Amino acid sequence: MAKKLRKNTKPKKNFFSLLSNKIGIDFGTATTCVYLDGKGIIFSEPSYVILNKKTKIIEIIGRKAHEMLGRTPEHLEVVHPMKNGVIADFEVSEQFIKNFLNKAEEISPKILSPVVVVGVPSDIGIMDAESVKDAVMNAGAREVYIVYEPIAAALGLELPIEKERAHMIVDIGGGTSDTVVLASNGIVASSSLTVAGDKCNEYIQKKMKTEKNINIGLRTAEILKVSVFSEQKDTKTKFRVHGIDTSSGLPISILVESKDIFSFIEKPLKDIIISVKEFVKQLPTEIAGDLVLSGTYLVGGGALIPGFAKKLSDVIGINITVPENPIKAVVEGTIKIARNPKKYSHFFVEEVTGNWKKIEEEEV
Ligand SMILES: Nc1ncnc2c1ncn2[C@@H]1O[C@H](COP(=O)(O)OP(=O)(O)OP(=O)(O)O)[C@@H](O)[C@H]1O
Ligand SMILES: [Mg+2]
Repeated sequence: MAKKLRKNTKPKKNFFSLLSNKIGIDFGTATTCVYLDGKGIIFSEPSYVILNKKTKIIEIIGRKAHEMLGRTPEHLEVVHPMKNGVIADFEVSEQFIKNFLNKAEEISPKILSPVVVVGVPSDIGIMDAESVKDAVMNAGAREVYIVYEPIAAALGLELPIEKERAHMIVDIGGGTSDTVVLASNGIVASSSLTVAGDKCNEYIQKKMKTEKNINIGLRTAEILKVSVFSEQKDTKTKFRVHGIDTSSGLPISILVESKDIFSFIEKPLKDIIISVKEFVKQLPTEIAGDLVLSGTYLVGGGALIPGFAKKLSDVIGINITVPENPIKAVVEGTIKIARNPKKYSHFFVEEVTGNWKKIEEEEV
């Protein structure tokens, strides 16, 4: 029987690229994704840590830390290192990132410390970008490059952003909803709104209290929201929720229908839609024309809200594509840059750190 010949599409690696790991990080408000070149995604969990109050050392990280939200013993505290796209706690962020660099080293030991690319929101200032970079350098990276998340997402989605024709990306994350238009290798226009997944959780918590007479924690609101959006079969599918009865103050468990959850988050979703619409309305004519042709990409966890892409598309009059894995677009772009920083150096938020000579010789 004839053997099928498979074309080797893997990039050739030279000697230098074998000496250090290449790591891409999407350090999100809600989720952190870490991609280790050659190995794939090595971490994709909530951006939470449990800190020992006395030693200030991280004891638990990610999903387990998130599960402990509102349930920590006295000597521990939950810390959310990233808030609204900026580092809220520098030392904890450094330890948080160090944990991934160590994990990468365990999986794939190298002689030199790693090259790291981190995605940050498009509206953060140079000072905040610098603090992200410092945290990663202090965590042990050899070279750190900071890029705007929508640019990373566009690269992750393989959009031809080097062309003159404009492309638009809407990224609905945990802390922010960012809309950007990219063309000729740069950001042409952008807007950022601090209404996204976390705000939806707050609305669910508030409405459960006023309309269902039950107090629930933010973590419960988040779990309920994600369960409804990923498991609902129809609007009448019921979900069990545990909390505290607002009148008796005692524990209670009730059933809510998925349509209730959709109605609870109507307001924040409407705010996002209005903000994207206003953004589109003020775009120059040529760009608006381009978008009719190239459409818009919806990424981030918000892209998984059933029916949302269609609603947004109907309001802004532009076709919307939701990629297969909208939460991974940013990290996939960062690893692409980490493999060949020189090729993408025009996208770096700040000045380049590190030894250029070494990476100049890399072949990708
Ligand atoms: N299946 C789902 N349906 C709806 N929302 C979801 C789903 N899965 C995750 N989310 C929500 O997506 C949000 C996280 O998205 P994402 O990982 O893109 O955010 P992030 O990158 O951490 O945040 P930011 O970009 O604001 O820093 C959370 O609010 C989460 O509740
Ligand atoms: Mg994000």
